[in-house]
Amino acid sequence: MPELIPVLTKDAIARKVSDIAHKISSDYKDRELIIIGVLKGSFIFVSDLVRQLTIPVKIDFISASSYGSSTSSSGNIRLTKEIDMDLKDKDVLIVDDIIDTGLTLAYLVDYVKSFGPKTVKVCIFLDKNERRKVEFHADYVCYVVPKGFLVGYGLDCAENYRNLPEIYHLKL
Ligand code: IMP
Ligand code: MG
Repeated sequence: MPELIPVLTKDAIARKVSDIAHKISSDYKDRELIIIGVLKGSFIFVSDLVRQLTIPVKIDFISASSYGSSTSSSGNIRLTKEIDMDLKDKDVLIVDDIIDTGLTLAYLVDYVKSFGPKTVKVCIFLDKNERRKVEFHADYVCYVVPKGFLVGYGLDCAENYRNLPEIYHLKL
């Protein structure tokens, strides 16, 4: 049986999301912010984050998949939902659940840039930096986590566990 080891509590998550939302609200004051959530993993983080913002914001989603149902990135990124909004001259913030090898976000930043936005920044809930394959800098990071495969708060393993309100280390 897979074992779930607690890593971050609901309170710890809520505290950090609120801090980051506060920073984003202040950094993007008087600008035209468009948030692009990366499905599916970011759906809970995006919905918590945007409800704590105190500035106007538009929200879109993109869907990128690189895994199949294993626990390591194939590096082969497939877009399964495109961006619907016009990003030209807009301030875009890409929001994702976790950065691991960095391949997905590096690809998505380039993709978003191809639409001519004014600025592109990245906000991630978790930074797992031990398996990075490309150098990547995220502008907003809630938590840096050590190695391991994490689930809950939107993160899955073969589509399971996304609904858990806390973050767990999954031991297979
Ligand atoms: P990367 O391309 O290796 O940086 O992987 C990015 C994507 O892989 C993330 O957006 C997640 O969807 C998924 N991923 C990476 N590490 C984990 C993990 O520990 N748990 C669940 N999903 C993960
Ligand atoms: Mg993801």
